[in-house]
Amino acid sequence: MEIIKEVSLMQARSKAVKAEGQKVVFVPTMGFLHDGHRELLKAGRKAVGKDGLLVLSIFVNPTQFGPKEDLSSYPRDMDRDLKMAGEEGVDAVFTPGVDDVYPEGFETFVEVAVLSKHLCGETRPGHFRGVATVVLKLFNMVLPDIAVFGKKDFQQLKIIERMTMDLNLGVAIVGVETVRERDGLAMSSRNAYLSESEREAARCIPAALEAASGGASSGVRQATDLIEIMKKIIEKEPVAVIEYLRVCDKESLEDLDKIEDEALVALAVRIGGARLIDNTLVSTRVRA
Ligand code: PAF
Repeated sequence: MEIIKEVSLMQARSKAVKAEGQKVVFVPTMGFLHDGHRELLKAGRKAVGKDGLLVLSIFVNPTQFGPKEDLSSYPRDMDRDLKMAGEEGVDAVFTPGVDDVYPEGFETFVEVAVLSKHLCGETRPGHFRGVATVVLKLFNMVLPDIAVFGKKDFQQLKIIERMTMDLNLGVAIVGVETVRERDGLAMSSRNAYLSESEREAARCIPAALEAASGGASSGVRQATDLIEIMKKIIEKEPVAVIEYLRVCDKESLEDLDKIEDEALVALAVRIGGARLIDNTLVSTRVRA
């Protein structure tokens, strides 16, 4: 496994693989890898076969953190990340420096205007501008044919799909199902912020989503009713602070009043020092 720091070397590596008729698949991350990332890497390998180039990037992107957010405390463990990358058969780990990504005088950003305003965009202004910008830059550095993202960050996935289409980037975007702990909590690098009791309390998040899903399939159609079901479960945990609970269209991310067929139920909840997001697709169709 190669570790590549320089942008020109990364581009040259990808071009050489493409010249041999093979594909490059890319898994961008901010490191502190967990089993959710493992699934992204497995999906990446599956997408290009054994002869394709599987690239993992590790870059904690400063432009997607707000001034009061956790950039400086964001968990990092390069040795552990490299071990997991090796176990998953990654061919190249790309670790650019902040100055390589944002050179002196940097002033160009990309913004996916409307999708970025909903859900997390309401409380994290500028977050998705930072995400879209770094993903576009990383695409230009890694030159992937395919890129893999997790569905836990559903809004991010939609924004990247939109940007890729709008800017004719020619990268196929693959979305991978959320990987969950045994009690249903979605895997996230930020779970590391939870104390033992907060971790226990965080169980209210998947419980609320499961209840919303069960509600929809047993005939609850009004968004306000589904939100109430989730609110009751989360509010039982005194340490849980709801940032948002939404029922929205799974493509536009616009709020829905009523579910006709399928809807995205998305939430952000703060527990102690961790801001946790999660989502599920609910359906009015009765489950078999
Ligand atoms: O999902 C993440 O880890 C980040 O938002 C990403 C896509 C690597 C951009 O920094």
